[in-house]
Amino acid sequence: METLRLILLILHILGFSALIGGLLAQAGPGDKKVTGVMRDGVGTAFLAGLLLVGVLEGGDDPVNHGKVAVKLLIGLVLLVLVMANMRKEKIPNGLWAGLLGLAILEVCIAVLWSPVHSS
Ligand code: HEM
Repeated sequence: METLRLILLILHILGFSALIGGLLAQAGPGDKKVTGVMRDGVGTAFLAGLLLVGVLEGGDDPVNHGKVAVKLLIGLVLLVLVMANMRKEKIPNGLWAGLLGLAILEVCIAVLWSPVHSS
């Protein structure tokens, strides 16, 4: 189970790295858009995150459901916003900044809020 958790955590990290990298690559002046890399990234991060919760629920340690719920909600908002704007030629700067802010908020929640599984 630990090997599966680690593989999912690697996929999870690669996923949101693609999302955040795709956003940061467009920082500065110029039109912003939702790229395929960002779509695949948020999809991978979301799916791997859900599967990670499943693996942790199957484990012995209690799972921090409050943290999971907050991450799930923000992850869902990110997923819907990215998918809903996938076909647009360009997106408003405000949406670009909002996506980046939410993704960074998820990283902060993941790292600063007590571990998701308290052994
Ligand atoms: C773009 C959105 C997301 C970002 C940036 C993100 C970020 C992170 C980071 C940085 C970690 C590693 C934290 C650590 O090991 O201390 C992590 C772990 C985790 N994330 Fe996410 N996450 C996102 C979405 C989600 C979603 C939607 C879920 C599902 C509810 C989720 C569930 C988890 C779980 C369960 C772990 C713990 C894995 C473990 O330690 O076994 N994440 N996330």
